[in-house]
Amino acid sequence: MANDNSKAVLSHEKIETSNFLMIVLILVVLLFGGLVEIVPLFFQKSTTEPIKGIEPYTALQLAGRDIYTREGCYNCHSQMIRPFRAETLRYGHYSVAGESVYDHPFQWGSKRTGPDLARVGAKYSDEWHRIHLTNPRDLVPESNMPAYPWLAKTPVDAKVMPSNMTALRRVGVPYTDAQIASAAEDVKGKTELDATIAYLQVLGLALK
Ligand code: HEC
Repeated sequence: MANDNSKAVLSHEKIETSNFLMIVLILVVLLFGGLVEIVPLFFQKSTTEPIKGIEPYTALQLAGRDIYTREGCYNCHSQMIRPFRAETLRYGHYSVAGESVYDHPFQWGSKRTGPDLARVGAKYSDEWHRIHLTNPRDLVPESNMPAYPWLAKTPVDAKVMPSNMTALRRVGVPYTDAQIASAAEDVKGKTELDATIAYLQVLGLALK
């Protein structure tokens, strides 16, 4: 009683009864599917070109961004407004890829213990952030955000800024020689709190 397919070189039965073959072929299919999804993004203008009006971070803003990642702010805050009405009503224009072309790594995320921060720039005064970051409960009594009192007491590490910016330039951020040369001077005398606020205040402005 020969099965119709028994002579085919790679019959379904052969695949389905061999764990190894099954795994290899599943991986091939997934790999191909992944490539089809991902590769075009590298060539699509909407995902690789900066939107109009977006500038690379200044040295102080960049220092703030580094503090933001160091302190793990992204564990509670996304920076990605989804294109849904409930989101755009609350936060403003949905996020687009061209806004984060100078972010390495980008801070989109999806964890929202706190609100999305993609457009928090210019929403509050510097003084508000100063009080809030030093002790959130002074402004929002029910807040469970941690306090970051050491930011106000810690000077920005100025000497790492030129090499930071040089590294970013290698991956495509258009910093000029002059910007890199003055980077250390630009953050001199500033505290980590100043830097974090400078960073927060520029978030999302280009599309706000
Ligand atoms: C444990 C979670 C958590 C962490 C970590 C955290 N936050 Fe928050 N954040 C919150 C919550 C909850 C709120 C809402 C209540 C409030 O305003 O304090 C908030 C609010 C904010 C707001 C006001 C947003 C708005 O639109 O009103 C800013 C700005 C902010 N956080 C910045 C930061 C920064 C910068 C860091 C890192 C230094 C940080 N947060 C770390 C939970 C967190």
